[in-house]
Amino acid sequence: MRLLIVSNRLPVVVSKNDKGYELKKSAGGLVSGLTDYLHSLNKSDTVIDDFLWLGWPGMSIESKDQDLIRMEVNKVFKAKPVFFSQTLMDKVYLGFCNKTLWPLFHYFLNYTTYDRDYWLQYKRHNKIFCDEILKIIRPDDYIWVHDYHLMLLPALLREKISNPIGFFLHIPFPTFEIYRTLQNDVRKEILEGLMGSDLIGFHTHDYAQYFLRCVLRILGLENHIGEVEYNGRLVKVSTFPMGIDYEKFHAMNVAPFNDEKNQSNEEKIVLSVDRLDYSKGIINRLLGFELFLKKHPKWHNKVHMKMIVVPSRTGVPSYQRIKRKLDELVGKINGRYSNTNWTPIFYQYTSLPHKELISLYRRSNVSLLTPLRDGMNLVAKEYVASLQDKKGVLILSEFTGAAKELNESIVINPYNIEEIANAIEEALNLPEPEQIRCNQAMQQRLQRYNVTFWANDFVNQLHEMYRMSVSSLKKKKFTSQIQHDILERYRDAKHRIVVTNYDRVLVPFSGEFNSVEPTEFLKKIIAEITGNENTDLVINSGRSRKYLDKWLGDLDINMTAEHGTWVKDADTNKWTLMKKVSTEWKEEIMPILEMYNDRLPGASIEEKEYSVAWHYIKADVEQSSFISKELFDNLVSITHNMNIRVEYGSQAIEIYHAGIDKSEIVKYFLDKKKYDFIFLIGNNWSDEELYRILPDHSYSVNIGNIYTDANFMIKDHSEALFFLKSMAETI
Ligand code: UDP
Ligand code: G6P
Repeated sequence: MRLLIVSNRLPVVVSKNDKGYELKKSAGGLVSGLTDYLHSLNKSDTVIDDFLWLGWPGMSIESKDQDLIRMEVNKVFKAKPVFFSQTLMDKVYLGFCNKTLWPLFHYFLNYTTYDRDYWLQYKRHNKIFCDEILKIIRPDDYIWVHDYHLMLLPALLREKISNPIGFFLHIPFPTFEIYRTLQNDVRKEILEGLMGSDLIGFHTHDYAQYFLRCVLRILGLENHIGEVEYNGRLVKVSTFPMGIDYEKFHAMNVAPFNDEKNQSNEEKIVLSVDRLDYSKGIINRLLGFELFLKKHPKWHNKVHMKMIVVPSRTGVPSYQRIKRKLDELVGKINGRYSNTNWTPIFYQYTSLPHKELISLYRRSNVSLLTPLRDGMNLVAKEYVASLQDKKGVLILSEFTGAAKELNESIVINPYNIEEIANAIEEALNLPEPEQIRCNQAMQQRLQRYNVTFWANDFVNQLHEMYRMSVSSLKKKKFTSQIQHDILERYRDAKHRIVVTNYDRVLVPFSGEFNSVEPTEFLKKIIAEITGNENTDLVINSGRSRKYLDKWLGDLDINMTAEHGTWVKDADTNKWTLMKKVSTEWKEEIMPILEMYNDRLPGASIEEKEYSVAWHYIKADVEQSSFISKELFDNLVSITHNMNIRVEYGSQAIEIYHAGIDKSEIVKYFLDKKKYDFIFLIGNNWSDEELYRILPDHSYSVNIGNIYTDANFMIKDHSEALFFLKSMAETI
């Protein structure tokens, strides 16, 4: 299978100089990690045997040069550039991606700007990516979309193709309170965009949980152990902490670090490596180092800080400001503490190749990484992996994804300058055996969960999700051919019966659960089906007799009320109580329901003759999600010796006597004649039992639920109605 990697940035960035175009390696963890993974592909056991990377070459290329760039890029990497105009990328890359999404997802609300046009251009940008993919897609391709630049792409692709689609976010996903500050349509469309994927991955469990909470609050969708049903598909949300190519960093032979500017080989080095980004906490780091120098004069002349600062997003004003601040502060600290033999801070505004970086990692005594927020931070892992002698100390911000895995490091809060200063002192004094012990534990972890493991884990889970959904959905799809075959059987049958629920099947699901009257259109369909004397129709409902009579009383049909407690036969047109069951349990249950009802504004209790339903469709979606679960668990434990059934209905909990059995009632109708055509439509968990007891020659259809025992699955009530209409028209 071929893996299509899609990210905004290609692994190489194109720039122009006097001699022509030049290609360099792109900056950042996404490119670093994925490049290492792709290089190791032939060594690992995976379903992927080929790949292609699609992305932007980093600058706008005139049409006449595009073929040349395609060729040049292809010489160094299996990649295909996607071209954009400068104007579009100013609004999308510099605009929506790095002035809106990046600061917001990193909790920098004060740096976040919103411009409607940026958003509209972001949509165009994602659409262009989609069109480019559609030009080259093959049926066996797996698509893996990366990062915040392309969050609408999965849904755009899903509309057109059925290949497996995975999405991985390399940056943090923020909490709902932060995420909701995006405009209403934007925050909704981004989530819907991501839900086009089969698998959505995050670096940490927290990010995945924050995302799921937004899906619940904004799209109203619950998850079941990280799986969400969406548009008749199953979307899995999971955690994949990105690893590094451990062997490369640990085993690479590199020349010892040699820095002419370094005053003495005896001097200790505190290292920091990052893109010049305000999220990396560079200013706090400098302030921490300054305080350390102030508090510990004994370290003067004995230690210096070496900062590798990689130029990044220089077209964004907040990045230009942080560069000015950095220059000023380094100048100030060096001015205050330097002497003729010693400069406390060396700072290089450049990007080093890995060979040099590894050499520097090994030479440094301490690595000081202080992001205020960082999705993962691969530098932290690379530093630890590079230490062949296991000597060196990592100081790491608790606000990085990496801190979750590297807890033998000195974990600090970078907002606390004193804590940074103290950590530097502690690290410089840490005994070597302790350094070795900590690094050994971390190295073992990094070696196991390396970048290949990370990517294979993602791709295998994507493969699994896809395999499952293809097999279950294909099997359950209510295709037009199947509908046609069922209608033929219907036409040829001598005795037919159609059993259907009322709510959500014959009428749409509504917040006004007591006013879902049937339309004239529906009544006409029912009358036409039952007008045929060979056909019986049963409306099988949990509603009370009162409502069913009010809405459908003028039709000659079989009905059941309160889940089969009452039955009305079309011939007699009278309600019969099927079983005399007790209602004493209500006395005990009602006060509990009332208590929960008071706790959840918008919820309501529907007390029927022999049963009770607690509806929460109009209540706050998140509150109802956990309060309903709590109530359900409580009711189940309270009623365990009471002969009571507690079941989830549609945004409701239904409680009724255990002596009432929906399947018995269906059997009661089925036993009336020797039916040679049986058709049943349901929509609740409790209907699953019915699908299982039907004779083999029956047809069953379920609305919405993917994990169903029904033969077929349909999307919603309108599809059900459409089919019943075709049935009514079949002579
Ligand atoms: N990097 C590099 N040369 C440098 C500085 C950094 O190749 O001079 C690489 C580093 O090895 C790491 C990546 O850039 O793989 C930075 O990834 P990280 O996750 O730490 O941060 P990001 O830049 O993605 O926010
Ligand atoms: C982070 C992001 C990547 C991005 C990289 C470099 O790692 O997660 O998506 O490519 O920074 O940033 P740039 O803006 O140069 O692509």
